[in-house]
Amino acid sequence: ARVAVLLSGTGSLCAALLEATDDPAFPAEVVVVGSDRAAHGLEHARRRGIPTFTCGLGEHADRPAWDRALAAELAGHAPDLVVSAGFMKLVGPAVLDAFGGRLINTHPALLPAFPGAHAVRDALAAGVAVTGATVHLVDAGLDTGPVLAQREVAVHPDDDEAELHERIKEAERELLVDTVAALVTAGRTSEQRTRKSDR
Ligand code: GRF
Repeated sequence: ARVAVLLSGTGSLCAALLEATDDPAFPAEVVVVGSDRAAHGLEHARRRGIPTFTCGLGEHADRPAWDRALAAELAGHAPDLVVSAGFMKLVGPAVLDAFGGRLINTHPALLPAFPGAHAVRDALAAGVAVTGATVHLVDAGLDTGPVLAQREVAVHPDDDEAELHERIKEAERELLVDTVAALVTAGRTSEQRTRKSDR
């Protein structure tokens, strides 16, 4: 299955997915990695000769134009699944129309707790003993789509935001790789089923 990745930062989650796809038995390949900025994370793809693109909000007249351009960039690589791995922009109707239902996001909290861009800081401020990682389908809201998988992560009393986020990312990396494998395997079996019924 063909997977596209969107990122905005260091891309450690994207790197974990790329490492998983190094195993020929893994049922997916990353065909493109895109960003809304010249993110360092694009390096993980470039080093592997995988196509990359940047689609900056500032490069377009307005957000709808950016959304259409992002949808077109992704469509150009015919992905079966789009993975938002630390992509810090809300996609719009053009991307959702094209990839809704096969567009997933990973979030460093146990949604619906702590949505938004400061989930780890918010969990620390709330004083919770347990937080975690969530992989969910993306809908028009901010971190509001149906949850696909979650994993709990303990908060240590002396954690600062960076330490807790790194521990959460370890869970996110495993959750993301497992969820991608499960989704593309399910997708493949459904294709096989339809092919069988065609005979
Ligand atoms: C991840 O925790 C992701 O859930 C959040 O930002 C982080 C991205 O990390 N949105 P990286 O860029 O993959 O290292």
